[in-house]
Amino acid sequence: MSIKRSNKKWYFVFLMFPLFLAFIILRKTDPYQQWEVYGGDNGKIHYSSLTQIDTNNVKNLRVAWVYHTGDTNQIEANPIIIDHILYGVSPKLKLFAIDAATGHKKWVFDPLSGGKYKSNQSMNACRGVTYYSSGKHDERIFYTVGSTLYCLDAQEGQPVTSFGNNGTINLHDGLGRDVKNLSITSTTPGVIYKDLLILGTRVAEEAGAAPGHIRAYDVHTGTIRWIFHTIPYPGETGYESWDDKESYKHAGGVNAWAGFSLDTAKGMVFAQIGSASYDFYGGKRKGNNLFANCVLALNAATGKRVWHFQTVHHDVWDRDPPTAPVLVTILKHGKKIEAVVQLTKSGLIFLLNRATGKPIYPIMETPVPYQSELVGEKLSKTQPLPSFYKPFARQTFTEADLNKYVSDSSYRDIKKKFLTYKKGFYAPPSKKGTLMLPGLDGGAEWGGPAFDPQTGLLYVNANEVPWVITMVDINNGENSSLKQTNLEAGMFLYRSNCMGCHGERREGGGNYPSLVGINTKYNEAAFTQLLASGRRMMPAFNQLSTSERTALASFILNLKGKKNMLYVNNAKPKDSYLKMPYSVTGYIKFRTLEGYPAINPPWGTLNAINLNTGKVVWRDTLGDYPELKAKGIHAGTENYGGSVVTAGGLLFIAATKDAKFRAFNKRTGKLLWETDLPAAGFATPAVYQVNGKQYLVIACGGGKLKGAASGDAYVAFSLPAN
Ligand code: HEC
Repeated sequence: MSIKRSNKKWYFVFLMFPLFLAFIILRKTDPYQQWEVYGGDNGKIHYSSLTQIDTNNVKNLRVAWVYHTGDTNQIEANPIIIDHILYGVSPKLKLFAIDAATGHKKWVFDPLSGGKYKSNQSMNACRGVTYYSSGKHDERIFYTVGSTLYCLDAQEGQPVTSFGNNGTINLHDGLGRDVKNLSITSTTPGVIYKDLLILGTRVAEEAGAAPGHIRAYDVHTGTIRWIFHTIPYPGETGYESWDDKESYKHAGGVNAWAGFSLDTAKGMVFAQIGSASYDFYGGKRKGNNLFANCVLALNAATGKRVWHFQTVHHDVWDRDPPTAPVLVTILKHGKKIEAVVQLTKSGLIFLLNRATGKPIYPIMETPVPYQSELVGEKLSKTQPLPSFYKPFARQTFTEADLNKYVSDSSYRDIKKKFLTYKKGFYAPPSKKGTLMLPGLDGGAEWGGPAFDPQTGLLYVNANEVPWVITMVDINNGENSSLKQTNLEAGMFLYRSNCMGCHGERREGGGNYPSLVGINTKYNEAAFTQLLASGRRMMPAFNQLSTSERTALASFILNLKGKKNMLYVNNAKPKDSYLKMPYSVTGYIKFRTLEGYPAINPPWGTLNAINLNTGKVVWRDTLGDYPELKAKGIHAGTENYGGSVVTAGGLLFIAATKDAKFRAFNKRTGKLLWETDLPAAGFATPAVYQVNGKQYLVIACGGGKLKGAASGDAYVAFSLPAN
């Protein structure tokens, strides 16, 4: 009897052992169980294979912990979790390590304290950090503050002094030309390939921007191991796509600002590439401007180009792809194909073979309007349009689409404006104003999509808000034959340097603040300091001379003592490639007098698209304006930050202006859970587990959109213990 029993026991152990082994191996190799890199995994699919929280119990989710950073306004970060430690950034770019199960603080690194503050450090948006380890005793975190890349010890939160210059690298260095006075930072974390940190940048969108070359740094020393010229040098592929053969010496932009995806097995790294500067007038950069607006594949070890695909030729609409390409495996005629999917601000889906860059379904070079009224502009006669996948956002705007939920006078106002604007998907920028739908921020946004490998569904949250590009003649502020006052010179300088964001009458627009009455908030010194440092989306203006800064201050702050003094320009004359004859009047949203988008809702949507069939499986309006909801109008709001899809059958997303966090059934789109956040979560959640318990966390920084309160919290959720 006893023998029999022990036999049974052995039999049981014998049976369970392979299961146990499989469990251990899966735990180690399933990249979707943890959240160790920005976006969840190197394919950037925003997917978690955890199943503890599922469609049945999601309604029981409750707050597990809240971490307050203590400084407010805007957090766009997607935190990472290594082992049981969560690494995140605060609005003022303090980097912190906290216990991912309790939210208890381990350490905080403040780059601006301890005399480490450098005046060139601006408060850039920082969307996350990168982790590297070569064993227990060498764990590093990389992140960027202004133009400084930091390398910190992940255990202690102190700079790794053997890296670069005492734990820092100046991103101005090593670009092959002098850019020390130009704005350069990095908003999206890089990726780690072996012992390389591959990093992109954010640079200015105006003329005279730094070039967006991609660099790979040695994770141990900070040495640049390779650089890829996004603006090609003579002899390099793409050089011929710039009519001006000197472009490689002075053209700017063309930067990988939205991060990377990485196929480790293939040794390939993938990037989206930003527009060439100046964004809205291309007369000084004729040609297709490779590798601007491209999906780009590089050899991760060497930085050599493998392939590229340009999504917009000679872009003058700021329509660069807004997210890293996402690595997916799809089925076509029953066959598995490894691919990359690239979403665009304009609502398009490009699907390319991962190894070759060849379209998986036809992408047509389609004739587009190309006659620009702007002197010296030369537009591309065709643009690539995908045929298989339908756009995930509205791209046409007719009179019938004008917002009908408004007062009569408001309707008359938007109708009048609407009739004057130029319309059409690729209508060139114009002096009367060109309507952009989707708007300048998208369509798809930097949050990026989620992809479910179980079902082949791609989840895209999108904005459907019209914006307007209006161009005006500018004189460049270089009317040297005229005797000007500081005030007059300041007005000219404003038009060529600042109006593009702060508006023709300094009224602000888009997501840019008004400067009207700013003299109550800034004196000349504080103003000059802001021009030198920049802040978040406001670039630094170190290229301006002292006389130019005084002139600008005289105009904007209405300086009684200085505004009527004679302007003596001590700036170097501008090179001709920097003199733009036109400027945009601002990043302006087309709104009703009540302040709502001038188009009928929805203004924010969530779309589930089957990449195998091309079908839209479900589509929902995302977010609400409480006052419209009360009238029965489910309008959706603009949304920033992406979603996460889980094996538990859920799609999690915050992103909306109404400061809600939501979970949908990933297959049907049914809303299963909704909760209030302390401030809008304009960020992507992270899903992870500690000691067998599943959590999700979202950064709630608010701000950004007019009327969205700001915040300082990371909020984590889990199921109650039972
Ligand atoms: C690319 C867009 C852009 C350009 C160009 C730009 N700004 Fe800004 N500016 C911003 C943004 C965004 C902010 C808000 C920064 C923040 O997040 O605090 C800002 C903030 C400011 C502020 C502070 C406002 C406040 O309420 O605190 C001042 C002053 C200012 N800008 C002046 C200028 C001047 C002068 C120029 C031209 C030399 C200029 N800006 C060019 C985007 C821009």
